[in-house]
Amino acid sequence: MLVFRLVLGYYLRPFVKRQNIAKNPVVIKAVVKQRYLSDLKRVLDMARQRLIAGNWKMNGSSDSIKELLAGIHGDLDPSWKSAVLVCAPAVYLPLVSDLVAESKVAMGAQNLSEQASGAYTGEISGAMLADIKAQFVLVGHSERRSLYGESSEVVADKYNAALENGLKPVLCIGETLEEREAGTTMEVVKAQIDAVINQYGIEAIAKGVIAYEPVWAIGTGKTATPEQAQGVHAEIRAHLAQFDAQVAEETQILYGGSMNPTNAEQLLAQADIDGGLIGGASLKAEQFIAICKAAG
Ligand code: 13P
Repeated sequence: MLVFRLVLGYYLRPFVKRQNIAKNPVVIKAVVKQRYLSDLKRVLDMARQRLIAGNWKMNGSSDSIKELLAGIHGDLDPSWKSAVLVCAPAVYLPLVSDLVAESKVAMGAQNLSEQASGAYTGEISGAMLADIKAQFVLVGHSERRSLYGESSEVVADKYNAALENGLKPVLCIGETLEEREAGTTMEVVKAQIDAVINQYGIEAIAKGVIAYEPVWAIGTGKTATPEQAQGVHAEIRAHLAQFDAQVAEETQILYGGSMNPTNAEQLLAQADIDGGLIGGASLKAEQFIAICKAAG
């Protein structure tokens, strides 16, 4: 009874203050309903949709991709609310585009050029990716940073090239084992994010997705514990909030690094983990689907 009176008091407080005629039951009902609905809407608006993304890296063939997508489509439950994305090798994007055309699975590329067009042999532009109906593109994956020498400045330009072509960039960030052991994790990931913010503003972050992938957890079978990952995700969000509270609240921050059907549920249960970027386990339909199921 006390709880009921407190709740009713909360909903009626501004009304009582303003008009002091809160004894009319019809008015009470209307006010409670209106405030309840607007509160509910605010909570729903604030909830970030989860995103489960597969990064196939340099794996697959036409046949294996057809089989993989058939398996994913066969078991994807339409009642799951999370968004699903597969990032395929560039040459298979037209094939994937056809295969996912009628499904809820979105398609992304794994890289793009920071240049618009011209004499850049071997490169693929954002306009080309948009032309073949890619919706997302990974930028700054640690394998590109470490094996292909992409600096945070180049990554920021790629991020912007994606936005300019209507693609949603997934900004991959993360620290190496040495950096973690030296206690510089947050310094490293903030600098990777700030390279985009300094060049293109916090509005650019609002239009993309962030994927925190500790380098030491990628392809190693070593996952960050849910607490470790949540700690970094929360700090990333707090960092974004220093620029814009709404962007911080709304930005999806995915975790990547040996996510699999066994650890997905616990990782995804963390308040600031909004999905996963999955390598190895995204190549097997039943494993990828199990992670989608855990995300719900
Ligand atoms: P693994 O899931 O194989 O560790 O790869 C993670 C990753 O790099 C996704 O981009």
